[in-house]
Amino acid sequence: MDTREIFCKNPVIIADLIAWAGNNLKNAGTIEVEIGFGSGEYLLRRASEHPERLFIGIEKKPGMITEVSKRSESRNLDNIRLIESCAEDAFNDLFPSCSIARAYSLFPDPWPKRKHNKYRKYWLFTKACLRLLNNRLVSGGEALIVNESEEYYRWILKQTSDTGFEFENGPIPPQFDTRFERKWIKQNISTFYRIQLNKAEHIDA
Ligand SMILES: C[S@@+](CC[C@H](N)C(=O)[O-])C[C@H]1O[C@@H](n2cnc3c(N)ncnc32)[C@H](O)[C@@H]1O
Repeated sequence: MDTREIFCKNPVIIADLIAWAGNNLKNAGTIEVEIGFGSGEYLLRRASEHPERLFIGIEKKPGMITEVSKRSESRNLDNIRLIESCAEDAFNDLFPSCSIARAYSLFPDPWPKRKHNKYRKYWLFTKACLRLLNNRLVSGGEALIVNESEEYYRWILKQTSDTGFEFENGPIPPQFDTRFERKWIKQNISTFYRIQLNKAEHIDA
């Protein structure tokens, strides 16, 4: 099976992946999803540390898919699949309810400049997006969101009511060693903002 799965609004893809994982991985119940994996450092590291789990990366930039697909192949990781899509579309169209154990997004684009405020409606993790994410997580599933932008972090916190999550949040030091984490450190930003969402009740979405 190819690492690269091009988004084609076909729910069979994920169903096939889950079936493949059930036949080929020790613990098929555990599926992790990274949203906006960029250069893929975290996804590749998690996949090599947990060969018993299936890792699905969602990324809207085709160039990143190609780059990470090559790295995954050169490391012989057969437990990673990449989907070229907007995360919201992938969750809506590809993933069944209660299919993901853990989801994470490291440094999602905050559109930091004032002139970008009009793009806020496109920010990931609106209330609707969090409700959908809740629906796709298994019982007891969790999601991790890490930001360098305190404004975006506070905005996401405001979206969390009525999303079925209990959450923990607060500042954290660097620890993910991704391209963007290194970029922020070079710019003397060394405090990041973490939101850990724990599924407490199931949301119909
Ligand atoms: C700032 S970069 C961070 C990349 C990586 N996580 C890191 O820490 O280096 C954000 C990434 O998220 C991707 N992205 C942003 N919005 C997305 C969405 N709605 N669906 C999928 N990917 C998205 C972008 O293409 C970009 O690669």
